[in-house]
Amino acid sequence: MKANSVSEKLEFSDPQSDSDPASECTLPPNVAMMMPRSLPDSGSLIFRPARSVDLPIVISWLQDAVDCRRWAGPAVTFPPTTESLSREISFTPDNSFSLDEADELIGFGQLIRKTRKRLHTSRIIVAPHRRGDGLGRNLCRALIERTIELGYPRISLYAYQDNPTAIHLYQGLGFQEKEKPEEDKLVTDTVYMELDLEPCLV
Ligand SMILES: CC(C)(COP(=O)(O)OP(=O)(O)OC[C@H]1O[C@@H](n2cnc3c(N)ncnc32)[C@H](O)[C@@H]1OP(=O)(O)O)[C@@H](O)C(=O)NCCC(=O)NCCS
Repeated sequence: MKANSVSEKLEFSDPQSDSDPASECTLPPNVAMMMPRSLPDSGSLIFRPARSVDLPIVISWLQDAVDCRRWAGPAVTFPPTTESLSREISFTPDNSFSLDEADELIGFGQLIRKTRKRLHTSRIIVAPHRRGDGLGRNLCRALIERTIELGYPRISLYAYQDNPTAIHLYQGLGFQEKEKPEEDKLVTDTVYMELDLEPCLV
């Protein structure tokens, strides 16, 4: 199924807030255009803080060490356990997010503070049996909206050069390839990308 034909309603669940961040921020025109807020309704997507019980499910989505590295980078050892993964990705419910559909976990991603002006998103993954349905795009949209809600003017990410699906997804959302930050200059097999959210903060 093509991404723009999926039917869903994206909702935000945040126990710390009773407001709806989706209604409070304006996405950049390119992002808003790529991600209609409401599509024909045939179910609901819930974006929520992740829980440690989500991790074994995410682990079950990893086929092999190559798959694991492409998803999470070299810091995560394969095969991970819940404990090793939690430690290696510095898991907390504040920096990790899950996407549910009908109470089934179908996506996961992180937002890590890099500087006063930049959040970094990482470890984005969609359940293998649900890929290609537009869920990756919705998950990214929710991570971007959360970044705007937190007041950061930039969101960044890395993708491996041999991950054209991910790079295509991020480009479609308006991320642009940029020069790597100084501390990551020696990493050669990845693409560094940023999305400017400054226009959303006014
Ligand atoms: C990358 C990933 C999150 C994308 O999620 P997804 O739900 O499959 O993506 P979507 O369905 O939202 O599709 C997004 C775009 O990628 C395209 N796409 C999806 N699967 C594709 C494939 N196998 N080959 C090429 N393009 C593909 C879609 O057509 C869509 O592009 P479009 O908007 O131009 O039509 C998912 O493939 C995944 O979990 N991969 C493993 C983990 C990983 O690599 N994470 C990224 C780390 S940087």
